[in-house]
Amino acid sequence: MKNEESILKALMAITQISNRPGLGFEAKLQKIIHHVTQCMRTEKGSIMLVKGRRQLEVAASTNTALIGIRNRIESNSPSAWVVKNKKLLCIDERNTQTDVAKGAGKYNKDAFLLAPILNRNKVVGVLSVTEKIGEDCFTKTEQEIFFNIAGHVISALENRRLNDSLKRSKQKLQRQNAQLKKLEQVRTELFNMLVHDLKGPISEIMANVDILSYTVVEENREYVESARIGCDNLYRMVSNLLDIARMEDHSLSLIIEKLTAAELIDEAVARLHGVSQAKQVALATAIDVSVDEVFVKGDRDLLLRVLQNLLLNAIEHSRQDDTVEIGVAMADKDLIRFYIADNGPGISPAHQDVIFDKYTQIKKKKDGIKYSTGLGLTFCKLAIEAHKGAVNVESDGMQGSRFVIDLPVRLAS
Ligand SMILES: Nc1ncnc2c1ncn2[C@@H]1O[C@H](COP(=O)(O)OP(=O)(O)O)[C@@H](O)[C@H]1O
Ligand SMILES: [Mg+2]
Repeated sequence: MKNEESILKALMAITQISNRPGLGFEAKLQKIIHHVTQCMRTEKGSIMLVKGRRQLEVAASTNTALIGIRNRIESNSPSAWVVKNKKLLCIDERNTQTDVAKGAGKYNKDAFLLAPILNRNKVVGVLSVTEKIGEDCFTKTEQEIFFNIAGHVISALENRRLNDSLKRSKQKLQRQNAQLKKLEQVRTELFNMLVHDLKGPISEIMANVDILSYTVVEENREYVESARIGCDNLYRMVSNLLDIARMEDHSLSLIIEKLTAAELIDEAVARLHGVSQAKQVALATAIDVSVDEVFVKGDRDLLLRVLQNLLLNAIEHSRQDDTVEIGVAMADKDLIRFYIADNGPGISPAHQDVIFDKYTQIKKKKDGIKYSTGLGLTFCKLAIEAHKGAVNVESDGMQGSRFVIDLPVRLAS
């Protein structure tokens, strides 16, 4: 009974050692051989592993000086015999079953027990013990136990193989990831360059359309006006795209100026004049007296384009003769709050979070082509966050939406 207990203990120890994370392969084998010798009650023991097709190498041993020593499988040694015959070998005074045993006189003195370490019927190593404490022989039961233990050593080896292959896969993935990142970077740079280069020709068209608008005969004015609106939209989309990319990789630096809320609102409204007229939507402003003495420190172009994007959304979702209101007031002593409110269909609570995500459009317009990208609100969010502010939407999802921008201000400035 006592014997079985110690075997069980040894087997459990081997399994535990095999599965212990963080312990190196060599250290694992060394610990295993220690437990094997304890269980078999021998002074010495070692684990040899098959290297390539011809060699056996000591991977762990109670005599650490032997580690790394190689032995040819073709040789006449007991371990080579075990590899070739895939069988247990016991050499002691009572058992001279093989030529190896007969020839190896030196082993007759101290009983020597060797078992193949098999993996899917292939020998991958040899487990051996010698110099038994007490008598110089191994009983049949002990031999069987030993064979069993050798079977368990394989789990440590398998773990290593698994580890190695995981490591290799990880390295491969890391390499591929780095390549992909590089490609992505090249693609982004190219894309930004192209988008940036688009701005030039669009500006040129806009300037020429402007000149045309002064000279065109009255009956053609609406065509020029719609060309101008189209150009404006295109310019805004290109700018949004470019700035989102820059804000995402933190390469956009803000040009900070001291601005008043009133000038921002007036300029934004002026820029949307043509569109609101075309859609027959009125624009109303409400500038509270509380902001009179306050300066917003921010990037004029970015903040204006945020207001423009929000106004344009509000106009787009309004019906003819509706009014869109843009207003501002102090929300707190150091917080200025802008809002843009419309009487459109509203935005359901479920959609309120996602509309700020890239490319989100709740429903495509049915009437004709809609020149939009679903990037407007993403741009607004990033631009306001770059000013350490926040943008949110309030709507019951039935009627009207109210976009609210909070920006920190310092009254002393
Ligand atoms: N004022 C609004 N009223 C109703 N829905 C809106 C309003 N503003 C934005 N949305 C919804 O949010 C979506 C995302 O807006 P945005 O990012 O500006 O993209 P785009 O205008 O290019 O569609 C819109 O497609 C629309 O569905
Ligand atoms: Mg939009």
